Amino acid sequence: MKSSAFNIHIIDNFFPDDIYEKIVKSIPTMNWGSRDLMDSKKEGDHLWFSNLVHPEDELTDILINLINEKSFFKIKKFSLLTYTLQSRTEEPFVHTDDSSGDSQILIYIDGPVDINKGTGFYVKQGNEFFLNTHVGFFKNRAVLFPTGIWHSPLTWNSKDGIPRIALIGQF
Ligand SMILES: [Fe+2]
Repeated sequence: MKSSAFNIHIIDNFFPDDIYEKIVKSIPTMNWGSRDLMDSKKEGDHLWFSNLVHPEDELTDILINLINEKSFFKIKKFSLLTYTLQSRTEEPFVHTDDSSGDSQILIYIDGPVDINKGTGFYVKQGNEFFLNTHVGFFKNRAVLFPTGIWHSPLTWNSKDGIPRIALIGQF
């Protein structure tokens, strides 16, 4: 079992402006094909779409350098790096990602500035999960955390159905 200690590191203005703008401009050209559909739990309920970043994409090295420079997490390489498009869900989907790497980065790219388009972090007591820390969506905000933490997108509680786009890396 990986560490469930929070040790969450939030870094705003994570990408330099020029790189962030380039990423935002590339969103309309992304292919969110059903081939990449990841079903998080129940079909038709908790769904997100993914668009993998090619390992040779220059963004990979840019990100590795930024993480090592700006965060207290250390990275050599990604085991997963993908854009995700997350729509509203019916209920929280509390999970850990501890099958992959020790650490995770989530960078909010585009969507409404809404606390409920962000991520909730939970503690487990007995068989129950309790929301303990709540990070709101903000463009170009990076959230780094150990993969053993229970978390969920909070889009289930958002006012509208506008999806959020984020970049997710595991390492
Ligand atoms: Fe996750």
